[in-house]
Amino acid sequence: MCGIIGYIGNTSPIDILLNGLKHLEYRGYDSAGIALGNLNRLMVIKAAGKLANLQQEISQSSLLSSPNRGIGHIRWATHGKGNAVNAHPHTSLNGNLAIVHNGIIENYKDLKAELINQGYVFQSETDTEVIAHLIGFYLQQGSNLHQATRQACSRLHGAYALGVISQAEPHKLIAVRHHAPLILGQSRSGNYIASDIPALIGQADSTLSLEDDELAELSENNISVFAADDTICHKTFKPLTMSADSIDKLGYRHYMLKEIHEQGNITRQLLHKRLPSAEAEVNLPDINISSSRLQAIRQIEIIACGTSLHAAEVGKYLIEELTGISTQVMAASEYLCRRSLSSEHTLCIGVSQSGETADTISAIRKAKEHNAHILILTNRPDSSITRYADSLLPLEAGIEVSVAATKSYTAQLVAFYLLSLYLAEHLHSVDAAQLSALKQELLQIPTQIETILQNDQEIKACAQQFNHSRNFIYMSRGINVATAQEGALKLKEISYINAGAYPAGELKHGPIALLDETLPVVSILIPGGSGYAKLLSNNEEAKARKAPLIAITSSQDKELNKLFNHVITVPQVSELLSPLTTNIPLQLLAYYIADSLGRDVDQPRNLAKSVTVE
Ligand code: G6P
Repeated sequence: MCGIIGYIGNTSPIDILLNGLKHLEYRGYDSAGIALGNLNRLMVIKAAGKLANLQQEISQSSLLSSPNRGIGHIRWATHGKGNAVNAHPHTSLNGNLAIVHNGIIENYKDLKAELINQGYVFQSETDTEVIAHLIGFYLQQGSNLHQATRQACSRLHGAYALGVISQAEPHKLIAVRHHAPLILGQSRSGNYIASDIPALIGQADSTLSLEDDELAELSENNISVFAADDTICHKTFKPLTMSADSIDKLGYRHYMLKEIHEQGNITRQLLHKRLPSAEAEVNLPDINISSSRLQAIRQIEIIACGTSLHAAEVGKYLIEELTGISTQVMAASEYLCRRSLSSEHTLCIGVSQSGETADTISAIRKAKEHNAHILILTNRPDSSITRYADSLLPLEAGIEVSVAATKSYTAQLVAFYLLSLYLAEHLHSVDAAQLSALKQELLQIPTQIETILQNDQEIKACAQQFNHSRNFIYMSRGINVATAQEGALKLKEISYINAGAYPAGELKHGPIALLDETLPVVSILIPGGSGYAKLLSNNEEAKARKAPLIAITSSQDKELNKLFNHVITVPQVSELLSPLTTNIPLQLLAYYIADSLGRDVDQPRNLAKSVTVE
């Protein structure tokens, strides 16, 4: 979603701001802007659309001489259209104060009415502009920039990460956060703020995550952090070790393709660290649930959104299979709408790649209020959601730049395999021989993923044949229903082709009415698995209605070529582990279809990488 970068120092801020925004582009946005300040005045430049438009505006502007600071923003529209007027920075005091904001101000209408009554004139439809005018108001009352920002924040309900600059104090950049992430950075040439680490890669040497309600005062050569009660905090910055490679395409056509191809390595490293051999016990050092509490767990709840929700569905299947504990999966937004049955006998697992998804954070907060033990699976152990974690399972998939989640999904699946094995070990719910066989098979997965990635000709051919279909159906039975759902989501997200996903047994209860020669059906079928024979029958039924058929399967049966138009094979694997392999061809299928249609694969329209509003 929206992204923030800010800089104060002895280098010109323009390139720093543009570089930072470029590295945040992946979050999804529809307009962008910067404000620059020198010792005499501020100037703001904004543009609708992509950063290239902002760059063009900048190149056509007569810029301030010797700016010492600046703030930049990419906006994903929430209040008001994605145009230049609504783009940040927003200003007050005749342009002598500028702010950038991530988050949502829930009481902005009341505040706006109050400010209009006092004669303030609003330019935009945004909630953000009220913050600019509120800070301006308190500055005019005689407060300094730090105090005025605090006073304004005390009036706000909602979430915010703010960067503020003003002509009143030209050697200062103020940053403050409440329920929205904000990071501080340091380098020899100056100091930075950013909404996410990628904005600072290649710029800052060390970083620090600001905590809720902390306020930072940055000058050219100093950063002071103040706690919520405005006492000074002594903070330690951590070296920024992430290399520019982690946000480089490394020769791939898209980040998504690069990230799909990283999955062999990522799963290998994660397994190597947590399960070095089939004889070893699963090593999850950040799981802090006591043995007596674990024995007392009566239900498990898994809360997530989007792709993480599909990983959760696989997780439910695994946990129930290996522990026998009843497990529920809930979309975070739905958990928030219903009576919570969580208690001290509940293990509540929050799954979020970014750790910043507002729905998931709110739902986890609610489960915590009901005394559940909170376990967080995330790719960002320093993210906002981890504030509620009693236990943590880091995914270690590296930064995922493409909006569509691929490698983080596979890492979430591996994490669920590790977790369910860990629970089975500690609850003694599965015998040792079965556990060891499962571990043995799990350790083969990275190589199997690589085999699939090296043999993608059939997937490409399939994509070429069906890229003009307007609808798809994905189906399976058992654990791979979640894989079907994830495959369909991937296709929708990046190609804008409609795709429905069903348990195959449901086809005859409705979706079968849709079938004809224009509607390809993608099935995931694992021989020896629960519904293999029935899935074949469901495909016969679809073929009788002329639907073209695509199989993702580990079967070597040549007869399948008679039934299916395309048979995409994955290495032999047991049904329980198959979601780790069957998902890979579906990622590639979505990718090749979207690319052949010329879609903006890495930044699909209307989507954001992490959705920080409910
Ligand atoms: C957004 C993204 C999805 C992602 C979902 C949940 O909708 O576009 O790709 O799956 O958020 O994100 P999370 O970071 O919580 O896993």
